[in-house]
Amino acid sequence: MSQRLKIKALLQSQQTEIDVTVKGWVRAFRSNRFIALNDGSTNNNIQIVVDFENTDATLLKRITTGAAISVTGKLIASQGKGQTVEVIAADIEILGDSDPEKYPIQPKKHSLEFLRENAHLRFRTNTFGAIFRVRNTLAFAVHQFFQERGFVYLHTPVITQSDAEGAGEAFHVTNFDLNNVPKTDTGEVDFKQDFFGTATNLTVSGQLEGELGAMALSDVYTFGPTFRAENSNTTRHLAEFWMIEPEVAFNNLTDNMDLAEDMLKYVIKYALDKNADDIEFLTQRLTEEEKQKPQNERSDMSLLEKLQFCLTHDFERLTYTEAIEILKESTPNKKKKFVYPIEGWGTDLQSEHERYLVEKHFKKPVILTDYPKEIKAFYMRQNDDGKTVGAMDILFPGIGEIIGGSQREERLDKLEQRMDEMGIPKDELWWYLDTRRFGTCPHAGFGLGFERLVLFVTGMGNIRDVIPFPRFPKNAEF
Ligand code: 4AD
Ligand code: MG
Repeated sequence: MSQRLKIKALLQSQQTEIDVTVKGWVRAFRSNRFIALNDGSTNNNIQIVVDFENTDATLLKRITTGAAISVTGKLIASQGKGQTVEVIAADIEILGDSDPEKYPIQPKKHSLEFLRENAHLRFRTNTFGAIFRVRNTLAFAVHQFFQERGFVYLHTPVITQSDAEGAGEAFHVTNFDLNNVPKTDTGEVDFKQDFFGTATNLTVSGQLEGELGAMALSDVYTFGPTFRAENSNTTRHLAEFWMIEPEVAFNNLTDNMDLAEDMLKYVIKYALDKNADDIEFLTQRLTEEEKQKPQNERSDMSLLEKLQFCLTHDFERLTYTEAIEILKESTPNKKKKFVYPIEGWGTDLQSEHERYLVEKHFKKPVILTDYPKEIKAFYMRQNDDGKTVGAMDILFPGIGEIIGGSQREERLDKLEQRMDEMGIPKDELWWYLDTRRFGTCPHAGFGLGFERLVLFVTGMGNIRDVIPFPRFPKNAEF
């Protein structure tokens, strides 16, 4: 038997009249004659032509949507429309039956809601095949970008003691028997008796550990799962998401912005080149979806145009203070009623504000810098004005915040003072503070929410559709 060939390779084959073996899942079987077979290497199915007159009737009956089959036959130039090659089956083996009465995925368009409920099988649709191939490419491109620039991929821990963002959104980790939790004399949970001898949680960010690496290896990045027990019942939040966090010694905020902009453009371009057919498919999908909307709500650019636009334009860079001025002026106009009234300097921007800046005002990606220190994390470098910090958020059309980062506070006294002000226990972070005691230096980094990047590149509307196994409140079955 000849070796299995992937359908993508077969469809591009220059050679015909050769014997091939192909394996996959039946998408459709027409007229007892034509099988549309898919193996996930591409959205394009290969057509298998069945000699039904000389094929056992019971075998024919078992060729149903969803069944796994192996086919050996001859690859020929196709006479039919819509495909260049097809396989004339000589031998068909059923590897796994699929009861057509029970199999949920039919050869028709299913709603995304329906597929979310059948997330264990949604990989077998064109939309999710395309999404997860693009996701794979983007992950590879992230590594390639940093590796080409001499960064070290640093694996930071999933279980930690610290809440890097200080937002109190960490999931606890314990191996206590929950029916019999040890208590201290004063009635508090006795974490000394827990597995690690202390209270621990799932990491919300690898940044603090990343900084330790950067203080020796100069240029590092992490790329791993992070966890937040925040309200993730939105189309932009997950309880478990993947984050890419570069951390670079000797970089300032401008270097940090340049690195982030270069990285985003690099990985988007990489996916456009590598997954052109999938992005073309997703572009058409989105165009169809847009047609359902009223004319005035439709996007004036296709997905492909949006991605190309992003590559060819500089991101707009401005300070938080400048952004507030723009938002204040936008508020009184009733036509722009989706803009929530901005309370004024010092308040955090809502996603509506962010999207207004990106989608209506500048009409391109925006980098906002120098936020009020009160609304940002303790580790950000304090500016000389005493009010703001060297923060940067990158805002993307249709997404809002895709990256959050900053120059870090490298001065021990300033850092300790800020931690005191914010009630962050210095004794627990003694190891972090040591980097400021021994050979401290300016440094900067950021975190890219990987799923938000995948959302942007695939044009999907819900973050639960761009991660294979989404975690959100009341959802962690598989
Ligand atoms: O802005 P955040 O909270 O920043 C940090 O965690 C820093 N320690 C990063 C750093 O400087 N090394 O999160 C960074 C990014 C956000 O911009 C967003 O894209 C994504 O992570 N993100 C989420 N994505 C999905 N679901 C959630 N619940 C997310 N929370 C943050
Ligand atoms: Mg943020």
